Amino acid sequence: MILKDKKIVLGVTGAISAYKALELARLLVKQEASVRPVMTRSAIEFITPLSLSTLAGNPVYTDLFEPAGNGAIGHIELAQRSDLIMIAPATANFIGKVASGIADDLLTTVISAASAPVLIAPSMNTKMWENPITRANVERLKKLGYLFAGPEEGPLACGYEGVGRLAAVDVILDAAQEALSPRDLAGEKVLVTAGPTREAIDPVRFVSNASSGKMGYALAKAARRRGAEVVLISGPSYLPRPSGIAFVPVTSAEEMHEACVRYYPQSTLVIMSAAVADYRPKKSYPAKVKKDAVELTIEMVRTNDVLKYMGRKKKDHFLVGFALETEDLEENARKKLIDKNLDLVVGNTPAGLDSESNQVTIITRDNTIEVLPPLGKDEVADRILDKVARLKE
Ligand code: CTP
Repeated sequence: MILKDKKIVLGVTGAISAYKALELARLLVKQEASVRPVMTRSAIEFITPLSLSTLAGNPVYTDLFEPAGNGAIGHIELAQRSDLIMIAPATANFIGKVASGIADDLLTTVISAASAPVLIAPSMNTKMWENPITRANVERLKKLGYLFAGPEEGPLACGYEGVGRLAAVDVILDAAQEALSPRDLAGEKVLVTAGPTREAIDPVRFVSNASSGKMGYALAKAARRRGAEVVLISGPSYLPRPSGIAFVPVTSAEEMHEACVRYYPQSTLVIMSAAVADYRPKKSYPAKVKKDAVELTIEMVRTNDVLKYMGRKKKDHFLVGFALETEDLEENARKKLIDKNLDLVVGNTPAGLDSESNQVTIITRDNTIEVLPPLGKDEVADRILDKVARLKE
């Protein structure tokens, strides 16, 4: 809940994608941010201030010369009392004005007086995006510390196909969260594992478990947001690949082990959230097993314990393991912490598997225990990383 209680100016300029700002406002409010919408004159040609103010739960500001009083906030106050200024969509004209220091309406004036980070989500025709003047304006703003989300490639409203589409709303939201996140993992090289593994019986059957990968993906994204360089080694999962993260897909426990061995030496922090199979069929049949016999016995053999291996090889690494328990959670989790030479262990139960939320207990090497309430996995990820960042200080 990084956006909770944050004061966010949502600037909307005149592009056909302005309607997506309505969804953005709704999602920001859902995350309990306080949204102050500002629209340019041309934005009002595309969507109504009434729609935006209804979804934002606050009046829309449009006029630089709005009289003071009536609860109206002046442009300097809007600029100074904000934690983040987002412009979505931002036109080529608007980007050009900001890059040239022009402040001739409320939104450009707010930006010129702001101390908060400014996040720009461009939206325009491909030719306009590729125009050398736009390119130079964007580069100049990036150098000055302005943040950008998108644009994306795809079909455009004007009939063209190419780069220029407003970034997806969740990509803009991720960028907003990143802008407001602590950078307390900057310089860390983080290896995160996620998801289940599949141990083949034959070409069409396998032994696996109910892990979805959500916890690991949330951890990888949160670590990146907080400034780390992240490698995500993932077993089979239907989740979209997170952007800005090196992604290594694997299938079996053996492949997971090999990938971890490869990335472990250069990592400073390892978070092993994958549900790695402990056993695999001794023999994987090369052809589909036919149902000839009445009974079928599959002999299983142990896989490598990847985390235990890393615990043995540990140098300066900070190792985080998970412990999935159905009974005696604290005691069993602590045993795993010692046995696998971990710095921190996150105990949880099968209720967290393939679920949007998780209820975890965080146990550290110096034996502090923190029992968290059931929380969304993004929040759990940040709470785990809060602890890791404090211990690594
Ligand atoms: N783990 C691993 N390699 C395995 C099995 C587990 O690296 N072959 C890691 C998991 O990713 C997790 C931790 O070890 O971080 C504990 O996994 P868990 O399934 O809770 O326990 P196990 O060690 O497998 O022991 P048990 O199944 O007996 O509880």
